[in-house]
Amino acid sequence: MAVVRRATDADINQVVSVNYRCLPENYAPSFFRDLHQRFPNTFYVCEIDGRVVGYIMCRIEFGRSDLNNFSLIRKGHVVSIAVLPEHRRKGFGTALLKAALSGMVEYGAKEAFLEVRVSNTPAIELYKKMGFEIKRVERRYYVDGEDAYVMARKLPPEPSSI
Ligand code: ACO
Ligand code: ZN
Repeated sequence: MAVVRRATDADINQVVSVNYRCLPENYAPSFFRDLHQRFPNTFYVCEIDGRVVGYIMCRIEFGRSDLNNFSLIRKGHVVSIAVLPEHRRKGFGTALLKAALSGMVEYGAKEAFLEVRVSNTPAIELYKKMGFEIKRVERRYYVDGEDAYVMARKLPPEPSSI
């Protein structure tokens, strides 16, 4: 049985290992724990038969809008999302992202944004489907020199409307 639910402290070790298996951008376990402690409403896992197979973690930031250059707003930053290869294309990425976007609204965020490798078609397609648009390119954003797209979308006032 598959379920998407809020992450708990007990999930963090499995989240760290999913991150290692899926992405070259890895972080110390303390970084995951810190984000989970500060922003629990935007940290979700996907669990199948008791095993964590995917996660999303985010941070709420205050800064310039990515959609309207004049305003300073609260915005939700998708720091990392991944689903194990054997469980992709089953809708879990979408479910994780939807849940995290609702959590961002609960924290009062007006927009969501993220960086993604320009070569990462699966992720870019997922984000486009979820209403994100490419807003700009960050040159050599990644340690290996690849560029990132910054993608952003507006958030509705009510979590239930995502
Ligand atoms: N090729 C083209 N489009 C794709 C692909 C693909 N391989 N995978 C997903 N999509 C698009 C499709 O439009 C898909 O809808 P469809 O299946 O109805 O056609 C839509 O995204 C939703 O797919 P999901 O099944 O919900 O997504 P999935 O569970 O497969 O997870 C994810 C997507 C998280 C990007 C997964 O591929 C993954 O873990 N990749 C490796 C880690 C990664 O790149 N993470 C993002 C880094 S950027 C960041 O974290 C901010
Ligand atoms: Zn980022």
